[in-house]
Amino acid sequence: MLSRKHNIPYFSYPKTIYMSKTNILMVCLGNICRSPLAEGILRNKLDPNYFTVDSTGTGNWHIGNPPDRRSITVAQKNGIDISNLRGRQFTAQDFKEFDHIYVMDSSNLKNVLSLATSKEDSSKVSMILDTLFPGEKVDVPDPYYGGEEGFERVYDMLDKACDIISERLNS
Ligand code: 4NP
Repeated sequence: MLSRKHNIPYFSYPKTIYMSKTNILMVCLGNICRSPLAEGILRNKLDPNYFTVDSTGTGNWHIGNPPDRRSITVAQKNGIDISNLRGRQFTAQDFKEFDHIYVMDSSNLKNVLSLATSKEDSSKVSMILDTLFPGEKVDVPDPYYGGEEGFERVYDMLDKACDIISERLNS
């Protein structure tokens, strides 16, 4: 089979040109604490030629805002820059654009699933800590109203979960 435009066999194209990427979305409530951290951590573990990672919130309070300073700091301590991310709100369109949707807690799960319109949509959604504690419905605690140490704990949980996610996506 020949490419009409370039008249060369399709199989000689580099993989990145004709293979669509796997798109992963991280979801929390405000999209300023947990999900931007999860986005930065997972992106750092995956090959950008094959994967995209994004994040969003179910709430609308922080649309256009950068991540919370404490998330930026804990990411930075671990060599990850999330300062250029900006908050946005989850919409039903995200089901079309993403292959895997990881939510931080059971309230995010309920809100995201309420916008699903098919079994295919809902099958894309799971709680991120199901990777570490299958079937136990463990929440990533919201660190927003706590201190810095809450952000360190959240970082460690998300890092472990993202190790498993990246292993699965690469196998
Ligand atoms: P996140 O944390 O869901 O991890 O981004 C929150 C940030 C802000 C608010 C709630 C949770 N808020 O109510 O403004």
